[in-house]
Amino acid sequence: MTQSARSNAAVEVFEEAASSYDRIGVSFFGPFGAELVGRAGIRPGDRVLDVGCGRGAVLFPAADATGPTGRVTGIDLAPAMVRLTEQDARRLGLTQVDVRVDDAQQPDFPPGTFDAVLAGLVVFLLPEPQQALRTYARLLRPSGRLAISTFAAQDAAFTAATEALAGHLPANQPRPSPTADPFADERTITATMAEAGLVVAASTEHRIESRFRDVGHWMEWMWSRGGRALLRHIPPQRHDAATADAAQALEAARVPGGGVSLTTAIRITVAVPHADAASVAT
Ligand SMILES: C[S@@+](CC[C@H](N)C(=O)[O-])C[C@H]1O[C@@H](n2cnc3c(N)ncnc32)[C@H](O)[C@@H]1O
Repeated sequence: MTQSARSNAAVEVFEEAASSYDRIGVSFFGPFGAELVGRAGIRPGDRVLDVGCGRGAVLFPAADATGPTGRVTGIDLAPAMVRLTEQDARRLGLTQVDVRVDDAQQPDFPPGTFDAVLAGLVVFLLPEPQQALRTYARLLRPSGRLAISTFAAQDAAFTAATEALAGHLPANQPRPSPTADPFADERTITATMAEAGLVVAASTEHRIESRFRDVGHWMEWMWSRGGRALLRHIPPQRHDAATADAAQALEAARVPGGGVSLTTAIRITVAVPHADAASVAT
């Protein structure tokens, strides 16, 4: 699959998931988004860009931080995400928020527009992440900062359950395969930022425990987020068997009362433009 086909497939998955994304009663994107905004040091009156805004887990805390004198623009390539998030912003009366369809790979704004560019759990989905970071560096004002979140560690039971599901993919469906990850760890992220003309100012890890009523609730959550990319390729006649295998893998994460508890760690990296950023090749 080419880079751009992979990107289109990723957006298609989120387009399908938009109405349930972060709306099924699991603590995950909300607290991670709030943490990202907290780390970005946004001030009242700031001009902020949130790339890959989804349903606003980052956008809405950012709007709280800028207050009505600031401006927060959310962009996403999935039109349903944009439509629903725009509706939520209007319902909340947030006049400082606007949401539009635009590509996080190459956001369409003049250089030096923003005090902060935020990217919650999205940069690793982009076809050319290093190039996107170079663009974000150019969009920042001289005192601006980029804050991104990336996955640091998955719960072992989550990984086992996902592998159990992948075992039910048709033989001709490519398995998720490890590729070179420019956001694999703190050292790699620092190097990736440097290539984009950015200097890491802070790097912190954050853990969230997510609780699920049962395995059915976990499957519902998987359909509502990026996990849908895997589930949509499992033939319907294999869904029951796939769920049973995932349930077995999730036994290790059972809590008293029958629920499931999974802990996920993300890394939040805040970076600022290097003094020589203007000379970084694009
Ligand atoms: C994992 S979600 C994260 C959403 C949100 N930032 C949050 O923290 O909940 C990734 C989002 O990025 C969007 N996305 C993926 N590729 C994109 C691209 N090239 N341009 C803009 N948005 C993109 C998806 O549509 C989806 O809404």
